[in-house]
Amino acid sequence: MRILGIETSCDETGIAIFDEEKGILAHRLYSQIAVHADYGGVVPELASRDHVRKTIPLIEEALKEAGLTPQDLDGVAYTAGPGLVGALLVGCSIGRSLAYGWDLPAVPVHHMEGHLLAPMLEDDVPEFPFIALLVSGGHTMLVRVDGIGEYELLGESVDDAAGEAFDKTAKLLGLDYPGGPVLAKMAEQGTPGRFKFPRPMTNKPGLDFSFSGLKTAAATTIRQEDDSAQTKADIAYAFQEAVIDTLAIKCKRALQQCGLKRLVIAGGVSANTSLREQLAVVTKKLGGQVYYPRPEYCTDNGAMIAYAGMQRLKSGVSSDLTFKANPRWPL
Ligand code: KG4
Ligand code: ZN
Repeated sequence: MRILGIETSCDETGIAIFDEEKGILAHRLYSQIAVHADYGGVVPELASRDHVRKTIPLIEEALKEAGLTPQDLDGVAYTAGPGLVGALLVGCSIGRSLAYGWDLPAVPVHHMEGHLLAPMLEDDVPEFPFIALLVSGGHTMLVRVDGIGEYELLGESVDDAAGEAFDKTAKLLGLDYPGGPVLAKMAEQGTPGRFKFPRPMTNKPGLDFSFSGLKTAAATTIRQEDDSAQTKADIAYAFQEAVIDTLAIKCKRALQQCGLKRLVIAGGVSANTSLREQLAVVTKKLGGQVYYPRPEYCTDNGAMIAYAGMQRLKSGVSSDLTFKANPRWPL
């Protein structure tokens, strides 16, 4: 079985072809970062227009790379939500239309299910059940995963997502959008212990997160201190340390609460090396292991959508002609 995956929920056009036996046959990713950089964040209308320009050419390139024609495919999977409604509608309309024209099933995929299953594309595949920490620009969620489609939401952010907090703090430090990875790089030069930020919501029970206060604490410190490169690096260090400690405390709590040892991390922030290192320590102490996708499958991509689409298709899910984009689709 071979599936074409289309991801257009935000600012990346991701296209991939997944073969059940051979794995990923083609992978194309176009990032719109340059389009949005001058605005300090994603401009929804520009995102939709760029997806319109890029999606079909990338699908053509992917088919060529895999040496396939549409007749070699068994389905078309596309991200149906959550995300920016205009951007989603591009992928949905193209995915549905191609499936109709090629006489194939069309499979709507939940973007966060795509992230959650991305580690399955690696050699070392986590066995069910496991706990998944999904950390992206739009979401921070802890999910108990018992199988494909068997998801129990254990906790989520009550305000900013972890990636959003990284990006907003990076902006306060004068870094370009999306500043998360740049802030992480800057933190490598930071002095441990010079600043200390709170670990929000860790002193009371529960698995929800809150990151907006942490960003405010960073903003206050940035206002009070000098703007030398070292001070900025020290603030970046303290901010990243606080986010990672908070995530690690909640991951440990979720694992212990559910009596599980396997932890999966996915979504853009799971590319963060310090987060990976700290969660490796946490899971090792519990006698378990942490699993994560390779860096290009951490951020938005078509491979995870093709993979999730394949699983959904095998379980009998495909859409009728009326399926719409769902910008607020719960997992
Ligand atoms: O999953 P993703 O590509 O898009 C969404 O679905 O939101 O995640 C993007 C987010 C951005 O906020 C970006 O700053 C953050 O992931 N990110 C990172 C790192 N790489 C990407 N944050 C911290 N450290 C990183 N290395
Ligand atoms: Zn995402």
